[in-house]
Amino acid sequence: MKVGIPKELAPERRVATVPEIVAKWVKAGISVGVEAGAGEQASISNADYENAGAQIQPSASALYAHSEIILKVNPPSSEEVALFPESATLIAPLAPLRHLDLLRQLVGKKITAFSIDQLPRLARTQSMDVLSSMSSLAGYKSILLAADHLGKLFPMMTTAAGTILPAKVIVIGAGVAGLQAIATARRLGAVVLAFDTRPAAGEQVKSLGADFVSLEVSHEQAQDAGGYAKEQTAEFYRQEQDILRRYLKDADVVITTALIPGKRAPLLITAAMVKEMKPGAVLVDLAAEQQGNCELSQPGNIIRQHGVTLIGLLNLPSTLPVHASQLYARNLFNFLTYLQPQWEKNEFDLTDEIIKSALILRQGHVVNPLVQNALQPAERA
Ligand code: NAI
Repeated sequence: MKVGIPKELAPERRVATVPEIVAKWVKAGISVGVEAGAGEQASISNADYENAGAQIQPSASALYAHSEIILKVNPPSSEEVALFPESATLIAPLAPLRHLDLLRQLVGKKITAFSIDQLPRLARTQSMDVLSSMSSLAGYKSILLAADHLGKLFPMMTTAAGTILPAKVIVIGAGVAGLQAIATARRLGAVVLAFDTRPAAGEQVKSLGADFVSLEVSHEQAQDAGGYAKEQTAEFYRQEQDILRRYLKDADVVITTALIPGKRAPLLITAAMVKEMKPGAVLVDLAAEQQGNCELSQPGNIIRQHGVTLIGLLNLPSTLPVHASQLYARNLFNFLTYLQPQWEKNEFDLTDEIIKSALILRQGHVVNPLVQNALQPAERA
């Protein structure tokens, strides 16, 4: 098995593996090629990879030519796919329904593609779950960004000049990102209130020292069979906006994290609600990757509207490239260790939930039913 790690295209700063994992693969008899400079932005030198047993390839074309399995942090560009060897295996978060043109190009190259963002949420997939690892980092960074843009302190502070009250932080969606945002805000001394449609989130929120408002949805209504949030009715979102409106007026910082897989993020904060917020408040929209939970968020930008700073920056994990790469690499190591016996026999067990969910293309044939439906009939396997 020959694994290849390309340098991700700028502005991405993460890399798909780290020396710790290279050493494990080499010990297991797997050859690892790394493109020169691939780890530079994550503070990993070529020498670090070489010392762990990797071979440094001078260019992307040399790297791909020596790779049977390509590991990436982002979906490949068409220029990158053009360099892939025919019949190679690709493991990356492909968000397949949003990248049908990319899939068509991969089909033409007879690629076997695993989309690491499509894993089902099971106890045995937790160690492979790149979405959770990256969400956790995004949650942490959202609070640092908010603290940096807020003209106030987070903690209560008693000084000779009197006492300063703690900042009030609201977190909407207490999943992986939201819980990390709550934990980080609490560490900085803020008073935190969180909302979620999953009543079960309440206990986790409270264990972090925050208050919880349940939005009263049953477990079945809140989550699908894969463990991902379900879309609610328009009436539900309207009622949710009414509840949120009452609390937002008083908040210094709002972090929104509500996502529905494959869909536009639910609109939870309207322009009118932003207008009613305190001047100087900061809203970080972690759903900006999917058009945002706030009507005024501009994905990729920081703007000020009605006196409120709205942060819609994308790809926050890339701003923490050292630990993001380390966690990502460990997730991929666990996935590849699971996949290896099937890959070596070239027999993939489609009754296995992990393989069935992640395998999108098998030697250029579309095997994932959702992707099959999204493509034109003539393109289906
Ligand atoms: P997510 O990114 O899909 O959504 C973020 C949070 O927003 C979720 O908690 C969701 O319930 C909440 N949400 C959705 N719509 C909302 C709305 N309208 N208003 C307020 N909140 C809303 O979810 P995430 O963070 O990736 O994970 C959520 C759950 O899945 C957690 O219970 C987590 O422990 C579980 N999980 C399980 C895994 C496994 O078993 N392998 C892996 C990852 C997460």
